[in-house]
Amino acid sequence: MKRFYIETFGCQMNVHDSEKVVGTLERRGYEMVDSPEAADLVLYNTCSIRDKAEQKVFHRLDQFKREAGAGKIFGVLGCVAQQEGERIFERAPHVSLVVGSASYTKLPELLVQIEQGETRVAGLSLDTEDTFETEHTRRDNPHRAYITIIEGCDKSCAYCVVPFTRGGERSRASDSVLTEALSLAQAGYTEIQLLGQNVNSYRDPSPAGWNFAQLLEAVGRVEGIRRVRFTTSHPRDFTRDIVHAIDRTESLCNQVHLPVQSGSTAVLQMMARQYTRDEYMRRIQWLKASKRDIALSTDIIVGFPGETEKDFEETLRLLDEVEYDSIFSFKYSVRPNTPALSLGDHIPEEEKGRRLAILQERQRGIQLRRNAALIGTVQEALVEGFNTKSGQWIGRTSQNRVLNFTYPENEGGSQPARREMVGRYFPVRVTRAGPNSLAGEYSAVQ
Ligand code: SAH
Ligand code: SF4
Ligand code: F3S
Repeated sequence: MKRFYIETFGCQMNVHDSEKVVGTLERRGYEMVDSPEAADLVLYNTCSIRDKAEQKVFHRLDQFKREAGAGKIFGVLGCVAQQEGERIFERAPHVSLVVGSASYTKLPELLVQIEQGETRVAGLSLDTEDTFETEHTRRDNPHRAYITIIEGCDKSCAYCVVPFTRGGERSRASDSVLTEALSLAQAGYTEIQLLGQNVNSYRDPSPAGWNFAQLLEAVGRVEGIRRVRFTTSHPRDFTRDIVHAIDRTESLCNQVHLPVQSGSTAVLQMMARQYTRDEYMRRIQWLKASKRDIALSTDIIVGFPGETEKDFEETLRLLDEVEYDSIFSFKYSVRPNTPALSLGDHIPEEEKGRRLAILQERQRGIQLRRNAALIGTVQEALVEGFNTKSGQWIGRTSQNRVLNFTYPENEGGSQPARREMVGRYFPVRVTRAGPNSLAGEYSAVQ
């Protein structure tokens, strides 16, 4: 029996890729272990979205070498693998396997080469029609499952490495997606997250020819599935029929992540985002007009080359106008191969830091207000775990808010067992609100 260890960085796509890689390895008779020391094969699934993420990779590879000791096989997967390719063998000579995400279907044959003793094996082709599907995916969570519906990205946002690290768009046939959703429901999963770098440009390659909204609604109708989320949406391809699908289908969560990147049309143009501030706001208005109370979140980059103080203020104004429920915000980071490379990186780090801090402070106030407005309401919480320190169950609402709550103790005085609670849904009355989470108590009467 061969033992392997895997560590994962990056977005949900990477997390799910690792689940598929684990499934593929287990099919080949490998056993997963939870430390590099105990493993024969040490895998590292990497992210290169910002420079910091990439820097971590070589540092961690060195650490692995020390922790794991000699005589092991080291492999690098994911976006840094694709970006750096065989250069990784030079920078980290103990690595013998380098595989980009568009080549994971070749993993079994690459592993055969490794098993036969080859010391430099690479799978780096981006020229593929494949989406990476496995017969056996080893999912980490027993209640919430990821399903890939589209791989790669055909956009070319000026700052972004993804088109270079994951290749062009490939959509997966709708019947294959639905079959997986059905079997997940039968296995007891109740939440599904549809994944893609740009789910809105989904085009069903099968004769059914569905668009994203049609696929979304069909997944929402699978019996037993109570929650469906999707990520990520590109504003340019976000159509109103997605809002209609959410309106019609209870199981589609009232939560949409719609990355804006900047509130200034001039900056959006330099970023090659293919929409203006007004066009973005029109989509926000569709979402706000829904009869469901759809929570909104976004991604923002500060300090893109050419971003003036005035541009930045427009981003702040956008936050006030949209009133997002949460945001992910980043300092611009120059990336290899990207079109923005030629624009330089003239905004100093301290200035980027200043803008980021102002942005986050402004958003904190908005979140606090929005969360406080929910005090007194009853929300459905899916239990994810228990916090022994606070004595609260950790729950998540359809709007993707964290809602920690107390639940009446048993007759014996103890909390119900974890396995009875985790994965179940409870009505919870919200009693307190912070900027990042809510707290409440189980409410028997809705
Ligand atoms: N496909 C998704 C983006 C995935 S990357 C989309 O189009 O929305 C996640 C986020 O990382 C991006 O939305 C962007 O805000 C941020 N990001 C990407 N490249 C970056 C860079 N070079 N510097 C800083 N942030 C970046
Ligand atoms: Fe990157 Fe833009 Fe594609 Fe998103 S849409 S992955 S930001 S190139
Ligand atoms: Fe990172 Fe690759 Fe995802 S660069 S964010 S792991 S697509």
